[in-house]
Amino acid sequence: MRVAIVGSGYVGLVASACFAELGHEVICADNDAEKIAALTAGEVPIHEEFLPELLARHRGRHLSFTGSLAEAVRNSEVVFIAVGTPPTPQGDADLSYVEAVAREIGLQLNNYTVIVEKSTVPVFTCQRVRRVVAMNANAPVEFDVASNPEFLREGTAVTDFLYPDRIVIGTDTERSARILQRLYEPMTSGAYYGRPNAIASPSASVRIPPPLVITSSQSAELIKHASNAFLAMKISFINAVANICEAVGADVTQVCQGVGLDTRIGQRFLRPGIGWGGSCFPKDVMAFRAVAQECGYDFGLLHEVTRINDEQRNRFLRKIRNTLWTLKGKRLAVLGLAFKGGTDDIRESPAIALIRDLEQESCAIAAYDPAAMDRARVELEGLNVTFCTSPYEAAHDADALLILTDWDEFGALDLPRLRNALKYPIVLDGRNLYPTDLMAEQGFTYASVGRPTVAPVQKPLLSVTVTGKAQ
Ligand code: UGA
Repeated sequence: MRVAIVGSGYVGLVASACFAELGHEVICADNDAEKIAALTAGEVPIHEEFLPELLARHRGRHLSFTGSLAEAVRNSEVVFIAVGTPPTPQGDADLSYVEAVAREIGLQLNNYTVIVEKSTVPVFTCQRVRRVVAMNANAPVEFDVASNPEFLREGTAVTDFLYPDRIVIGTDTERSARILQRLYEPMTSGAYYGRPNAIASPSASVRIPPPLVITSSQSAELIKHASNAFLAMKISFINAVANICEAVGADVTQVCQGVGLDTRIGQRFLRPGIGWGGSCFPKDVMAFRAVAQECGYDFGLLHEVTRINDEQRNRFLRKIRNTLWTLKGKRLAVLGLAFKGGTDDIRESPAIALIRDLEQESCAIAAYDPAAMDRARVELEGLNVTFCTSPYEAAHDADALLILTDWDEFGALDLPRLRNALKYPIVLDGRNLYPTDLMAEQGFTYASVGRPTVAPVQKPLLSVTVTGKAQ
């Protein structure tokens, strides 16, 4: 099928590469001329596993890039809108980019086309897009508007797209439902997964083929907001439980295991830490609350979900202060700048927010991140932050080490080397990457989230053998 994707951000670019991988002819349009030139020249603008391979495989064959929305729309049976929906100062979603694209699509339509909303949008956006397209069409033309929310996560975007838990199609006509079903057929029939060069499944437990859920457009729009809000709530919930664990001396890892083994709850997204960030959860939780408000329902729970999240970061800051006593003039090594491991994205990153707070308190920061340093350099310009080439360089002569992002490599550090590099063997781990007893044995004071803080295990200096009888 001939598919156009408008927007080349995380969702748009990954969807473009993956639809091409499924065998469709894809044209990806963006009004950022520099980005289009870079993509056409073979550059990969984001750090995402398998994306470079897929772009190399399909660029110039099944996948092309253009700065002209007209070119993209005129040749396509299906047009996806995958542009940003950032938050307004009031917390609802700014839909002006979606509206602008809908207007332009209207101007260009010449054949029956299915216009599909893939950005995360509030309920009723499909209806509004439909009205804008119709108002701007030059002549009466047939079209449908559908919702096909995307559930990919940054860092695992390609495998999330190709091996989803479900595919949701929200349409209000049979005709568009059939077309979108056809689009996903290589996945829903299982054909894609039998191909010798298919991207490999990320785990043995994924359901192949993925189930297809067909709903009304309103339901599909709500599924996306409700899913993100629920996941954010799940993390805030376990963070709150972690705080209780700290108060009573329990271990949140054990609690998570015991709670998560209940299949109604599940282990995933039950990892406590310094809070959720990124470009989706913070904005979507706010936007969903705004949607509820608009329909006359006060979804106060979502306010609390965000409050717990903000408080989680502040608690960790207090933990740093309690461990180090005074902060002024301290040199702190920071591992992790991205909002989570596996990505170079620093939007709404709890790590960046904490660095700002610590810098305000006159700490000197030596930071390392495997992928996000270029972006962080721009974001933190002018602050007392140096960027290092390895975790050990960051740790060199530091008063303490902070782990703020859950990169796999931060959970596999050479601990004796780390201890030797640090001025004091103190680690504050905001992502619970190490067992507490291991860190104590390795000679660290180790504070984490929802688990007891441990001190270095004292090794006996000499062993005394007592022989003979007491006098
Ligand atoms: C999230 C959703 O997981 C995707 O399903 C959705 O498609 C996407 O938003 C979106 O709307 O575009 P993403 O923001 O890429 O994906 O990242 P997540 O893996 O969900 O992580 C979000 C935040 O929660 C990160 O800061 C992460 O560190 C934190 N997190 C996640 C935890 O603190 N604990 C966990 O157990 C899981």
